[in-house]
Amino acid sequence: MTSPTFYSIRMRASAGGRHLSGAERLVTADRVARTAQELIERARGRGIDPDQVQVTVDSLRGLLIKNIQALDLTAFTALDMTQCRSASRQVLQAAGISLVAIENAFMLLDRGPAPSGNTMRGAMIMHAETGERLEPDQERGVRVSRFDWSSEAYAAIDRELTRIGLMHFRTREALSLASKVAHSPGVIAELCWSDDSDYSAGYVSSLSTGYVRFPFMKQSGRTSGGRAFFVKGKGFDRDALLSYLQKEPVIVSGIGSCRQNADLSVLLHNKTINRHV
Ligand code: COA
Ligand code: AMP
Repeated sequence: MTSPTFYSIRMRASAGGRHLSGAERLVTADRVARTAQELIERARGRGIDPDQVQVTVDSLRGLLIKNIQALDLTAFTALDMTQCRSASRQVLQAAGISLVAIENAFMLLDRGPAPSGNTMRGAMIMHAETGERLEPDQERGVRVSRFDWSSEAYAAIDRELTRIGLMHFRTREALSLASKVAHSPGVIAELCWSDDSDYSAGYVSSLSTGYVRFPFMKQSGRTSGGRAFFVKGKGFDRDALLSYLQKEPVIVSGIGSCRQNADLSVLLHNKTINRHV
């Protein structure tokens, strides 16, 4: 039996030339029309009314679709930004990122990592030892695309995230994006917080630590944010990474564990943590 053709459906909404929101799905032919409609409704259902909504549908016929398992999720329960930032630095160190690279990433995400001082349209790629920037275009960055949950995994993760009180669609979408990134050729870990002024949560993720969510990575009301993908310096193949992140379709077809935790030492029990951060 041949497997069905999947389609990549991508929506982006803008107003006055400014990007407002985007979302994407991977679905079979019978669900293309309904999914496109859902994405258009979603674009219109957010704060500012867009004056342009663009939906692109591409057939993925002939392309191999990779199936992966979602990262385990730990929701770190902290009281404030100081606690979250300190804990997130420890998780990055435990994942093998140097202090220099960690501090550079935090400084850039706070300041606005694009050379113009604004947020980027995608993620930075950063050398995990030296903190050097490796993405081809520092205003744009790299945007992860062509990924989705399978229907079964979507239902299961929705149930699990709801159980631990994480109902926001952003967590579900960020977890699938981070799971694709963690399975990339060359990426050791990711650091992210949103540029949305109403959303201060962020995460650190890697294959070794899973996805660790922090509720307060920036002060509420601030519009700075972004993503850093930390890569191994030695033998790093940038073209292979860009092709995987941007073009290769990935379905997250299994979920990991989801739990809340206020004690980092449980999460990092078998890692060496430098506590002088
Ligand atoms: N911020 C700013 N501008 C953006 C943007 C973003 N996040 N995404 C797209 N644009 C604008 C840019 O001008 C871009 O041109 P560029 O390539 O020079 O930067 C242009 O739209 C075309 O982008 P492209 O990625 O080619 O469009 P697309 O229609 O194929 O896909 C998205 C658009 C938004 C669906 C896709 O890029 C994406 O981000 N997918 C992941 C969505 C998601 O699940 N995010 C979860 C985050 S928690
Ligand atoms: P968001 O999680 O949508 O608030 O996005 C936070 C930041 O991540 C943005 O400011 C961009 O720098 C970056 N970003 C947005 N979309 C993507 C993507 N598809 N892949 C990688 N980085 C992205």
